[in-house]
Amino acid sequence: MQIATVFNHAGGAGKTSIVRDVGYELAQSGRRVLLVDLDPQASLTHWLGVQDAHLEDTVYPVAVEGLELPQPRRVHGLDLVPSHISLSMAEAQISGQIGAVLTLRRALLAVRDQYDVALLDSPPSLGQLAALGALAADALIVPVLTNQKGLDALPGLQGALALYHRLRPELRIALYIPTMYEGRRAHDREVLAELRRHLPVLAEPVPLRGATWLDSSTAGQPVGLYAPGSPVHRDVQAMTRAVTAALDLGVPA
Ligand SMILES: Nc1ncnc2c1ncn2[C@@H]1O[C@H](COP(=O)(O)OP(=O)(O)O)[C@@H](O)[C@H]1O
Ligand SMILES: [Mg+2]
Repeated sequence: MQIATVFNHAGGAGKTSIVRDVGYELAQSGRRVLLVDLDPQASLTHWLGVQDAHLEDTVYPVAVEGLELPQPRRVHGLDLVPSHISLSMAEAQISGQIGAVLTLRRALLAVRDQYDVALLDSPPSLGQLAALGALAADALIVPVLTNQKGLDALPGLQGALALYHRLRPELRIALYIPTMYEGRRAHDREVLAELRRHLPVLAEPVPLRGATWLDSSTAGQPVGLYAPGSPVHRDVQAMTRAVTAALDLGVPA
């Protein structure tokens, strides 16, 4: 099992969308996929149509009580460890317990025979839940907004990674994904060129497109289910190919 955390402390970079939709495509291709929602806002959970999760279904028992991974939900052919707003309590409790930030990695390694890939959705912060997710991973996938805000987030990301390396020296960024790219805007083209100059492993940019992303989230369905064959679905499939190559997932069994 490959464990990848989709990570960026900036909100609105596309993390949750990537986890939901790349996760769904990987499951459709026959892989056994586990998704983990680490954001107390629980967008991933809601955008998969799960509305009835409780705190004990989340990573809370893992991170705070040292228990094993809770039984995931089965949804749209995926396994999901959901989130709930009360998961925000874990922030303070993790920081009060030595070693708590490494508990999720241990719990995931215990189920590694059951999955081909685990994708973790990171919260928009650099707090303890973000650390829990990053330190659980073999590799990070970093979506970057293709605009000034995206560039501004890069130093913070490098700083966080330097801290995480103290505990997980082998943790690497497998792929950067430029998101919300508006090719007609000169600003976006300049930022993309800048990202290509500075970042070692960069996917093709994911175009900014409106309605389908929002409507699929309201419907609680991945794009591949909600709007198969749509332009957004083709974007998702291209992104999935980039992630598959970056994580070296090979062909499904
Ligand atoms: N390529 C895209 N074009 C337009 N909107 C998008 C795109 N990708 C995602 N979105 C929407 O943008 C918002 C932010 O994306 P999200 O995945 O929630 O980012 P994050 O998890 O990093 O905060 C969501 O409403 C999502 O539906
Ligand atoms: Mg999110």
